[in-house]
Amino acid sequence: MALLPLVGSDTVVPLTVPLDGETSVRYANLDYAASAPALAAVAEAVTRALPLYASVHRGAGYLSQVSTALYEQSRTAIGRFVDARADDVVVITRNTTDSLNLLAGCLPDGARVLVLDVEHHANLLPWQRHGADVLGARETVTATLGALASALATRNFSLLALTGASNVTGESLPIADVVRLAHHAGVRVVVDAAQLAPHRAFSLVETGADYVALSGHKLYAPFGAGALIGRRDWLDAGRPYLDGGGAVTNVTVARTTWEPAPQRHEAGSPNVIGAIALGVACTEISGIADELAVHDRDLRGRLVAGLADVPGVEVLRLWSDSDEPVSVVSFTLDGHDAGLVAAFLSAEHGIGVRDGRFCAHPLLAARGLDTGALRASIGLGTTPEDVDRLVRAVRAYVTEGPRAAYTVVNGRWQPVDDQRELPEAVALLHALHADADARSVLATAGVSAGCGPAPSVIQVLAGVAR
Ligand SMILES: Cc1ncc(COP(=O)(O)O)c(C=O)c1O
Repeated sequence: MALLPLVGSDTVVPLTVPLDGETSVRYANLDYAASAPALAAVAEAVTRALPLYASVHRGAGYLSQVSTALYEQSRTAIGRFVDARADDVVVITRNTTDSLNLLAGCLPDGARVLVLDVEHHANLLPWQRHGADVLGARETVTATLGALASALATRNFSLLALTGASNVTGESLPIADVVRLAHHAGVRVVVDAAQLAPHRAFSLVETGADYVALSGHKLYAPFGAGALIGRRDWLDAGRPYLDGGGAVTNVTVARTTWEPAPQRHEAGSPNVIGAIALGVACTEISGIADELAVHDRDLRGRLVAGLADVPGVEVLRLWSDSDEPVSVVSFTLDGHDAGLVAAFLSAEHGIGVRDGRFCAHPLLAARGLDTGALRASIGLGTTPEDVDRLVRAVRAYVTEGPRAAYTVVNGRWQPVDDQRELPEAVALLHALHADADARSVLATAGVSAGCGPAPSVIQVLAGVAR
């Protein structure tokens, strides 16, 4: 039983070859770091909000006012979730990428940014565009903190962009210590909490960090909203993220007067439903923060111990002396292609993991892993059985190899002649779309739209991708 009920936690998926006599199995989702399923409470809140949905901020109608109240209440809940200071601003964005790009656009003129080479691209590329200095992480936390302190002392930086938890290893530097170092040098800190927030409580007040960015879809609220929370001055002075309605106080043909933040950066009709979903997730998750941390540690420990017993498996770590990472575990299988192993885990065991370079190319390259690795990530719905299943399946791969044949299609490993059927919901969606559309998708996929077996997911996706 999950700590909080999730939508779809009993979903059953088909297998390409029977496993213990079964042709389908409950999906073992070990890919929470990519995107997490919705909390049942989030889905219920969205369902309850939809009949009340109307435009926000501008409407005089009753439902506009109700929707505005729900939207603004969500902003407050998001701020509370990260323990924002009273004068911090909560900007509702699309996701962490959006939040960090927004902040990058608000950097004061001439601001220099410092960032480590272990970051997700979302916390690297917006700064790279501004000519950031990229510092190579050292082999220990202690040495990396030392290198950061030296770098901060040598140049006149304005901002340090720091991961709250690596999306590859789950590790982090001690955030409050880094903030102290940075502030000592007069440098602000933005924390990329995309992976931290779903696992551990985070406090702007306690860490002293100046900004934090997060994504709703990784926080059990997959309705397209994220947030940037932090100091008002740069956000008030910075160029509005988008030009458009809702962000302005007055416009003449010659000149526009902009609102302060957050409205300044929320031009256009906002994602009210996404914000409501994110607000609910924040409140629900802060209510179980302690249990969540224990769940996370137990299952990560079980996974790492299980993998350590499989010959040829190496779990990646950035630092030998880091604190307990969050439950994002990347590993390699000596001599085996990560993409093929991931396809095998899905097709023959009903397990979802991630493979590749995890949008952290410099981190993988620095460790000689240009061909990628596998990543298993644990979340609220993960059970000990899921973890054990993954360990058993990885062992079976190493000792017995795959039972089906695999080939590369559009750059990804897939079972040859994949006969897994589409879930009913997908078939229903096909039926819902215009006949012509459905037919053209199926025709591109090279399958008949008439009677007969439903096309497999892979057949349809391959057709769409061409
Ligand atoms: C550490 C980290 N930062 C940023 C991002 C970007 O998040 P999003 O795709 O929601 O913008 C991710 C996504 O995986 C991530 O893991």
